[in-house]
Amino acid sequence: MARLTRRSILAASAALVLADPIRLSAHVSGTERPALPIPPEIRADANGQISLTAQSGHMTFLPGTSTPTLGINGNYLGPTVRVRRGDNVTMSVANALDQDITMHWHGAIVPGDVDGGPHSVITPGSTWRAPLEIAQPAATIWYHPHVYPTTAELVVRGLAGLFLIDDDESDQLGLPSRYGIDDIPLVLQDRRFQPDGQIFHRMNLTAITTGYFGDVMLVNGARAPIARTAQGWLRFRILDGSNARNYNLAASDGRSLYVIASDGGLLDAPVELKVLPIHAGERFEVLVDARDGTPFDLIAEPVDQPIMRLPPFDETLSIVSIVPELSGGYGGLPDQLAALPAIPTSLPAVSQDLVATMSMDQQGMAALRNAGLMGMSQDGPADPNVVERVVSLFTDGPALSEQTQLAANGINGVPFSLQMTPFPVPRGQPLRWSISEGSDQMAHPIHIHGCQFRVVRYNDGSVPAYLAGWKDTVNIESAGSAEVLVTFPFAAPANFPYMAHCHVLEHEDSGMMTQFSVS
Ligand code: C2O
Ligand code: CU
Repeated sequence: MARLTRRSILAASAALVLADPIRLSAHVSGTERPALPIPPEIRADANGQISLTAQSGHMTFLPGTSTPTLGINGNYLGPTVRVRRGDNVTMSVANALDQDITMHWHGAIVPGDVDGGPHSVITPGSTWRAPLEIAQPAATIWYHPHVYPTTAELVVRGLAGLFLIDDDESDQLGLPSRYGIDDIPLVLQDRRFQPDGQIFHRMNLTAITTGYFGDVMLVNGARAPIARTAQGWLRFRILDGSNARNYNLAASDGRSLYVIASDGGLLDAPVELKVLPIHAGERFEVLVDARDGTPFDLIAEPVDQPIMRLPPFDETLSIVSIVPELSGGYGGLPDQLAALPAIPTSLPAVSQDLVATMSMDQQGMAALRNAGLMGMSQDGPADPNVVERVVSLFTDGPALSEQTQLAANGINGVPFSLQMTPFPVPRGQPLRWSISEGSDQMAHPIHIHGCQFRVVRYNDGSVPAYLAGWKDTVNIESAGSAEVLVTFPFAAPANFPYMAHCHVLEHEDSGMMTQFSVS
């Protein structure tokens, strides 16, 4: 296990050696691993208000280099919002930046006018107040800006945070619940740095085709951190907060991951996995047995997509080391979790198709193919020459004109526009929607606002047990498809419609989004 850790870090440093200047960020010190930062919790004040301020800051991600960042009530990322089912809270979001933002509660089941989508712009210097009635079960949801077409850039620079909902049912299960001790938040993000230390981001042909791919792995804003936890059962609340990257998560010593919750809350029973795939925007809560006190790493195994196998993701990568040495693990693994409603045997007819479509992917993929992308070995380290050519398409390709960017991708062949007529959806009725992709073979984690849905068909087959609970984001790839059973309990007026979009933020910001009203 320790050997694996060292080897993984060496893989990251090896990338440094063959790097062109823009990839210098891959350096990770083998001796000084930072402690896992735990974002502070924020609860409603005496007036029921939770105050968030989007601000600029600085972080030292690279030794001796200051990186300009964005954060919420801090330098990078934001506090963990903590509320209870039944609460009425007012989210107060101040914009101390010099550009427009919004703040979206991803996974919250709330009306369209407080959802924080692209129509709820918070201009520089102003404050937006969103009263939220928390009417959904315990869950790990999150928040981030949702401005069109600059969400990707705002998130990559640091604007995002966790949002935890508690309730009586989940409290009674005896799950590990000491925040930061045996209940550990993990925000997974990949980043790439310019030589001057700035976080690289550019909307060019490669970015709008494949989405962002970084060469530095951050967990809660730290590289290869160590978490000192309780010795006992541990609960990890994992958010894939990357702009585009998906991960195959596992434990370095092969111990099981027991998935207890997906995007919208608890599963009906734990699902034991050795490898957990997670995609941009998704959350899973996972229990791991660390009663023996033996340290282990959470690792990312290479995924089966060439673009996601660029170093250091071409080999098993340690993303966080767990040292279970603190006293007293109190929680355990229950047999049963939540009572989820059964999926009805007769489903409504499909009333909406959402097809992720791309119009420049041929062009984008041709350039990547010419660079040798498809020849990248499926096993073992990537060929450094291919890596250099592919990465330089991403780092050196010129930004697209805004007009080209906004027309590049779509839903059902139509690029998003704030002015497009929202399609009407009936409120409070079970609906079956179909999600699929056009001719491209990309991965598209599709997210729908205003709901938690159930996946009722996945790639023409049965739904894997860990995806069978409440979800708000479902990944499709390799000509895949999904059908979801969804009800929208709240209204979304035409001027504050809900969004449905790809959570690869570079796809979203280049048109792969649509909007709908609910009444
Ligand atoms: Cu996490 Cu519409 O976004
Ligand atoms: Cu996509």
